[in-house]
Amino acid sequence: FEVKWDVESAEKGGYEHFMLKEIHEQPNAIKDTLRGRIVNDNEIVLDKVNITKDEIDKIDKIFIVACGTAYHAGVVGKYVIEKFARIPVEVDIASEFRYREPIINEKTLTIVVSQSGETADTIAALKEAKRNGSRVIAITNVVGSSISREADDVIYTWAGPEIAVASTKAYTTQLVALYLIALDLALKKGTIDKEYAKAICDELKQLPDKAKHILDYKDELQEFASNHFNSKDVFYLGRGLDYAVAMEGSLKLKEISYIHSEAYAAGELKHGTLALIEDGTLVIALATQEHLFEKMLSNIREVTTRGGYVLAFAMEGNNQLEGIVEKVLYIPKTMEEVAPIITVIPLQLLAYYMAVEKGCDVDKPRNLAKSVTVE
Ligand code: G6P
Repeated sequence: FEVKWDVESAEKGGYEHFMLKEIHEQPNAIKDTLRGRIVNDNEIVLDKVNITKDEIDKIDKIFIVACGTAYHAGVVGKYVIEKFARIPVEVDIASEFRYREPIINEKTLTIVVSQSGETADTIAALKEAKRNGSRVIAITNVVGSSISREADDVIYTWAGPEIAVASTKAYTTQLVALYLIALDLALKKGTIDKEYAKAICDELKQLPDKAKHILDYKDELQEFASNHFNSKDVFYLGRGLDYAVAMEGSLKLKEISYIHSEAYAAGELKHGTLALIEDGTLVIALATQEHLFEKMLSNIREVTTRGGYVLAFAMEGNNQLEGIVEKVLYIPKTMEEVAPIITVIPLQLLAYYMAVEKGCDVDKPRNLAKSVTVE
């Protein structure tokens, strides 16, 4: 009798892949990233961010700059910071930002987002921002990384080491960090009232439990994947924050399962993409944003009338998609503002099971690296 084990399988803690393990670590990663940062119900404490009310009042533009999944976190950040703090936000891909002579000055605040803190383009973007007089806040998962050292202020995500190339828990914790920054800016600027801030904080604190619940969709998504892993193209649709999440869901699918996929702002469908929808085309429709639900519903109908096969995600309590689409999964009831942090989780699971069904090397997808430290 021989016990077979190796260091790698021990590190995977019983999961078949690091990615699956890291998806399951999200409830704790979210909790750890929130810990100690919300006090007295609605005060935000970010110990390494020292920006004062006077400094915030002078800011007239924010750039969020990042690559890959971190860029997608930035897209959520834009919606949230603009909504809460009423400061215009531009999200940019670091490799574009660094070469396009962006308009930066002392009134600009730049937020760079990087799991590794070592991405070459993001470091270059950070330096470009600083050279032009911008204050730089870094969101990173690695203590002492280049980006954490170069930035003026730092918020660490406490996701723990992320091994799988496809980012999961780093993304959800980057979102948490961006919500905390948005709240901090908004409270200092006085653009949201204390009650609303408390409501958002309460919701954030409940997310670890809700994230745990959503992991229960595992079996259903695995089964769904076993029926759909042969899809050639998959379209992800959403509006508002759901559009931002759609971008990340689509990236997860293409990077690990090699299935072609695109994310679209649902309102853009009729401006071109609708031509690609035919009988059986798989469409993932995100409809968690209640104030946009009616609009989303009519976009979903545009797809179903053309024979598209729709898997929808809606907010618990809203059953209007039953009978209209092939399958609906429900996001545990939460304020729509914070929904992205949990909506992305079933999309990660879906991508994971599609890749497993296809027999792909989930943790080490072809041609990709965990950290891109050269251009
Ligand atoms: C690589 C990884 C992605 C990651 C991106 C940015 O492409 O494969 O998962 O999102 O780099 O990495 P960073 O460490 O800066 O977040």
